[in-house]
Amino acid sequence: MALLDDIRRYWDDDAPTYDRSRQHRPRSPMVEAAWMAALEARLPPAPAKVLDCGAGTGFLSLLAARLGHSVTAVDLSTAMLDRLRAKADELALPVEVVHTPAAEPPGGGYDVVMERHLLWTLPDPAAALRAWRDAAPTGRLLLVESLWGEVDGLERLRSQVRHRLHQIRKVPPEHHAEYDPALRQALPLGAGTHPGRLAAMAVDAGWRMPRLHRLADVEWAERCELPLPDRLVGVAPRFVIQAT
Ligand SMILES: C[S@@+](CC[C@H](N)C(=O)[O-])C[C@H]1O[C@@H](n2cnc3c(N)ncnc32)[C@H](O)[C@@H]1O
Repeated sequence: MALLDDIRRYWDDDAPTYDRSRQHRPRSPMVEAAWMAALEARLPPAPAKVLDCGAGTGFLSLLAARLGHSVTAVDLSTAMLDRLRAKADELALPVEVVHTPAAEPPGGGYDVVMERHLLWTLPDPAAALRAWRDAAPTGRLLLVESLWGEVDGLERLRSQVRHRLHQIRKVPPEHHAEYDPALRQALPLGAGTHPGRLAAMAVDAGWRMPRLHRLADVEWAERCELPLPDRLVGVAPRFVIQAT
């Protein structure tokens, strides 16, 4: 599929610099601890069988492995997975790495299927959510996301001010390039991953009882690390949609 090839190429090119962004790989022990607590609170008791889709350089996979879970990490980009593999080896964490599209997960019988910041770039997120349901028929779903794109009112204003402050301080961009606008337009969630929309899509795919959790502790820890003007504006709201 041509679309997947374009997406794979983008992430292969992004892999060398992906972890430079603090959003992608926190440097602060406080932020990392907040993420660890947020994930621990939403995973079943260890050791559970966990599938991390669009695992990238391993943000969620490595946290889950440190919590004692048995993790399979899948991604479209070998360059991203090579980074994940290197980090897992360095930390002596046993993460299984599989190069495959997220909508075709390996094996089944998972206790948890999770993702962070993958859904927006899937050509068919509904199909992926259905495939994950089949891969975890009695398991749980964790969609770890942030509020961006389709936001209004105060959140839109905050996002604009954040962007301006980054420009003033010449904060490097989070990625090596922008997505091609035509590619982004072809993606059903390419304009934003609003929690209401994600909850509805999860239900349509066969997941039950979606619950929305705001990751206020992670946001607070991230905000504490920012310079003063940015701290006043805050970070983009982070949330998890959990379903059964
Ligand atoms: C924004 S990054 C998120 C990486 C990681 N989950 C994190 O939180 O840092 C998106 C990741 O999804 C991967 N990806 C994009 N489309 C995919 C697909 N169809 N199947 C599997 N992985 C995909 C990319 O290669 C990239 O590693």
